[in-house]
Amino acid sequence: MHNIQHITPDLVYVGASDRRTALFENVYPIPRGVSYNSYLLLDEKTALLDTADAAVASQFLENVAAALAGRQLDYLIVNHMEPDHAATLADVLLRYPHATLVCTAKAAQMMVQFFGSNISAHQLITVKEGDTLALGRHTLAFAMAPMVHWPEVMVTYDTTDHILFSADAFGTFGALSGNLYADELNFAGEWLNDARRYFINIVGKYGVQVQALLKKAAALDIKMICPLHGPVWRENIEWFVAKHDLWSRYEPEDKAVVIIYGSIYGHTEAAALRLGTLLAGRGVRNIKAYDASRTHASKLVAECFRASHIVLASSTYNNGIFTPMENLLADLKAHCWQNRTVALIENGTWAPQSGKLMRAELEQMKDIRIVGDTLTLKSAIQPDQEAQLAALADALIAQGL
Ligand code: FEO
Repeated sequence: MHNIQHITPDLVYVGASDRRTALFENVYPIPRGVSYNSYLLLDEKTALLDTADAAVASQFLENVAAALAGRQLDYLIVNHMEPDHAATLADVLLRYPHATLVCTAKAAQMMVQFFGSNISAHQLITVKEGDTLALGRHTLAFAMAPMVHWPEVMVTYDTTDHILFSADAFGTFGALSGNLYADELNFAGEWLNDARRYFINIVGKYGVQVQALLKKAAALDIKMICPLHGPVWRENIEWFVAKHDLWSRYEPEDKAVVIIYGSIYGHTEAAALRLGTLLAGRGVRNIKAYDASRTHASKLVAECFRASHIVLASSTYNNGIFTPMENLLADLKAHCWQNRTVALIENGTWAPQSGKLMRAELEQMKDIRIVGDTLTLKSAIQPDQEAQLAALADALIAQGL
């Protein structure tokens, strides 16, 4: 049975949701699932905007057939070649051999890399910035969006109905359950954390390129955003765009503290949580603490992008940083994390090293302000160290917490 929805009389949602895949890109947990969105424009000519992941191939292909209702597919527009959107591209061409591919030159090259040289025999139009495609009532304009999230990415703007098909931009983890529009969901309450985790982990590294796309989008009259993941935006678009603006400028979203600890037997954890209590006693609200061993790095990275102040507490391990914290720091560096205030706690029973090593990692990142003195624990926090912890709490607050 198909599961299509009309967005407008001639624009149909033909994507599908996936609740079976445990790890998106085989790395990010998606307990709430994910949707692979695809859209079909039915004009004098028909145009399919992107395909879908292999995980939902049968539902997606059934949807396309139902929406076409016997018509030919004239164009297959490929905004992004990553397999979560392009895995079923060859299947679509097998079913609709008369369709002309429309994509960037880089995407055409990637198609051969993924599907072999046979695909280059297929009719294909390469487009570049500002090129247009007339379908009848609708005219589509293409804008390049390199590195949001791969180099071949473009976005497509329907100049007739003012709809932006934004590729990975403005997407989110989370499967759809029938409600296609963000305004039909409790987005701020139930989706925002996953939207942030999706954005930061997938394109967080490419803030400059996202800013370039936001600039292009600001010049357009956009009534609706149709992303490749998550709900469609037709209301409160500015709110979601403003979140992306903050994230891609590496500005904190909340004036807040996040405490992350890597603790082997719980002593580092105890000191980190005591610091949380001292901060609460000084009026700090909405404190969040996470055990780096038990929290997926994608969530920790997203939290480090959300908050203005971060406490990192780590045991020493193999004369280095405790592995989960070491991995987190590598992940933060890979995502160009910057412009935050950080306090450090280290632990080591005979030779504490983790503070010095965490500091060295942070110094390689841009504009990370380390406040106060690193608190050094030898096995466990001692009663006479409460004053040092209090000084760390005061130092965080003095830096705007
Ligand atoms: Fe949703 Fe970059 O693919």
